[in-house]
Amino acid sequence: NPLQPPDLSKCHPAIKGDAGDTADCCPPFSDQIEFKLPSPKEPMRIRPAAHLVDKAYIDKYEKAISLMKALPDDDPRSFKNQANVHCAYCNGAYDQVGITPSVALQIHFSWIFFPFHRYYLYFFERILGKLIDDPTFALPFWNWDSPDGMQIPAIFADPASPLYDAIRAPDHLPGGSSPLVDLDWSRSAASLTPEAQWQSNRDVMHTQMVSGAKKRTLFFGTPLKAGDLADGNGQGTLERTPHGNLHIWVGDLTREYKEDMGNLYSAGRDPLFYCHHGNVDRMWDLWKTLGPRRTDFTDPDWLDAAFLFYDENCKLVRCKIRDSLDNEKLRTGYQSVPILWKDSKR
Ligand code: C2O
Repeated sequence: NPLQPPDLSKCHPAIKGDAGDTADCCPPFSDQIEFKLPSPKEPMRIRPAAHLVDKAYIDKYEKAISLMKALPDDDPRSFKNQANVHCAYCNGAYDQVGITPSVALQIHFSWIFFPFHRYYLYFFERILGKLIDDPTFALPFWNWDSPDGMQIPAIFADPASPLYDAIRAPDHLPGGSSPLVDLDWSRSAASLTPEAQWQSNRDVMHTQMVSGAKKRTLFFGTPLKAGDLADGNGQGTLERTPHGNLHIWVGDLTREYKEDMGNLYSAGRDPLFYCHHGNVDRMWDLWKTLGPRRTDFTDPDWLDAAFLFYDENCKLVRCKIRDSLDNEKLRTGYQSVPILWKDSKR
C-alpha cells in the first residue's frame, strides 16, 4: 500500500539527533482539500540560475522572503512554518497513519524523496508569488553542476539580505577559506584549484546522473510503502551525492546538530535550502532525458503515496505523487543553461 499522509492532529515533538533533544515543528491543522493541477493557462514559472539573476529579480525575491518572514506564527505560510514542514516530515514528528506498532514517517532515503521535495518547492514558491502579487514568480536554482555555480550564490551571502542565514560554515561562504563547492565533500577534503575541483565535480555528476543511474531504483532510491521504516541506505544516487554532501557542507559543523543546512530539522530555515532543492528537482527532469528506461515508476504504491501541504490560500492540500511527475503541468520550468557533465568519463 502507498505511504499515507500524516494526521496533523497527532504531531509530536521532533528529534534533532542522537542526543535526543527535541524541536517543536508541528503545523496548525485544518480540513483537507484534494490537490488540483493549476490551469494550463497559468503562466509558466521559469526558475532562473541563482548566479545569473539581475537586480530586479533579486529585489522581488528579497521582498517576497521578507514578507513571508513577517507573517505571524499562526499563518501556515510563514517562513517559520514553511521551514518546519521539513522538520516535521523528516525528524520523527509524525507516525505513519494506521500502522501499529508505530513507524515514523520519513520522506528521505527512498523513492519518496524527489516528489515530496517537488511539492514542497511548488507551494513555497506559490506562497511567495502571492505575497508579491506576481503569478510568474519562480525560485532560483543553485546551479552547482556547472563551473559558474560552484560557490554559494552571492545573493545568499549578503548579511543585510533576508536571504542570508548566519548559521552556516564560515569557511564555505564566498570569500571564505574554501568557498568552492565540492560535490562529494567529506569532512577531510583538501582544497583544489578551481580547475581541478571542476573536473572532480564533473565526474561526480556523470556518475550520479549517467553511468551510476541507469535504472530507476538507482536514481530514485528504493521503494518505501506504508508501514516501511526508511532505511538510511535506501537513497538514490543524487539524493546521497551531491544533495546530502552539500547539506553538510553548508551547515555549521561546530554545532552539535550541524544547523542549519546540516540537519533535516533545521535545513528549511536557510533560504538557500529552497535554491539547493531547485537544482535537485531540475536533476529529476534532466535524468529523464538521458536515455532509455529513464522513466518514472508506474507502481501505484508510488503514484498514490500522498503528502499534505498548505497552499498560498492557507488551504491544507492532499497531494499524490502521480500529479507531480510533469513539471510543465505544474507550470514550472528551468532556465536552460549549459550541461557540461553528460559526456565526462571516469
Ligand atoms: Cu529534505 Cu535536502 O532535504
